[in-house]
Amino acid sequence: MTGTTTVESPMLATYFNNLNALRWWSKDTIAVVTGGNKGIGFEIVRQLASQGVTTILTARDENRGQQALGALKEDGLDVVFHQLDVTDSKSIGELATWIEARFGGIDILVNNAGIGWSSLPNKVLAAKEVLDTNYYGVKNLTHALLPLFRPSPAGSRVVNVSSMAGQLAVVGNNKWRQQLNDEDNLNEEVIESIIQAYLKDRAEGMNNVLLMPSQELLEAYGNYTVSKVACNAHTRVVARDLANRKEGEKVFVNCMCPGVTNTAMSQNQGHSVEEGADTAVWLVLLPAAECVTGKFFLKRTDRGFVYIEEAFAIDAQSMIPEK
Ligand SMILES: NC(=O)c1ccc[n+]([C@@H]2O[C@H](COP(=O)([O-])OP(=O)(O)OC[C@H]3O[C@@H](n4cnc5c(N)ncnc54)[C@H](OP(=O)(O)O)[C@@H]3O)[C@@H](O)[C@H]2O)c1
Repeated sequence: MTGTTTVESPMLATYFNNLNALRWWSKDTIAVVTGGNKGIGFEIVRQLASQGVTTILTARDENRGQQALGALKEDGLDVVFHQLDVTDSKSIGELATWIEARFGGIDILVNNAGIGWSSLPNKVLAAKEVLDTNYYGVKNLTHALLPLFRPSPAGSRVVNVSSMAGQLAVVGNNKWRQQLNDEDNLNEEVIESIIQAYLKDRAEGMNNVLLMPSQELLEAYGNYTVSKVACNAHTRVVARDLANRKEGEKVFVNCMCPGVTNTAMSQNQGHSVEEGADTAVWLVLLPAAECVTGKFFLKRTDRGFVYIEEAFAIDAQSMIPEK
């Protein structure tokens, strides 16, 4: 709990005391955010640091990361920087070693870094690059940092910034959709066998895995979609595997969609980054009593893993890059 608030009105004093009681974190709480140099990640760092959490802004490019850090420090925020490329196991290992030496552990991990359909303009993104970042990056970093989560009465938090695009309704193959939704038996092998089936499809010009409205959309969004399906599934696997931890050692693991948000990835369509970051920050800072695990959230609401209604509500066609 952080400092007390002095107010004249007894009603206001009660209100602030209640607020403080909900505030489980302090300056000693350590958060790691990936892809923190711009977009939604930068905003998540800004909001967490503004709330008094000691926040480690990570970025794959040292210069871009330092620039982002400088902007936040100018606003008086307590943020530290460390390089991290989520596709590079050496970089992941160095971050983990540095965190342990400097802070002794962490309490919060936000897997935000991602690439999408428009990160590489004028070409359909290579499947490997997208999957390495959006799925294997999340998987490998989570495994590397889990041993560093510290016991805490409020529990530790992992939030994966995913997408509505990864809802199971986009998996056209019934067998795979059922496997991905069978939480008790889901594991990394199942997830990765579906990734392999998708890659085989792409190599052979087939479409046995995803249900996409058109071949053109499959070309433009298929890699991203399957990467977020896998990211969501991985969230469930990690959450389930950690669910039986005893009180004081709990880790709450959830994923969320920021909604279409005005960043480089969406080609500046959509709502503000403040809105895009909101659900992730809310999940991270929830009082322990309100925490759930293994869920998918949109607009602070548990939407389940199969929901599709809004997945293609954006003007997807206009965002297909030129070949
Ligand atoms: N914007 C949307 O409408 C939207 C909708 C749904 C979900 N999302 C998700 O939200 C997250 C953030 O996206 P955004 O919209 O903020 O996109 P963005 O502005 O393009 O930012 C993406 C961030 O990820 C970083 N990144 C990419 N590859 C990386 C790697 N290998 N290692 C470390 N960092 C890496 C980028 O670094 P560089 O600056 O070095 O490239 C950048 O900091 C993504 O996971 C995305 O899928 C976004």
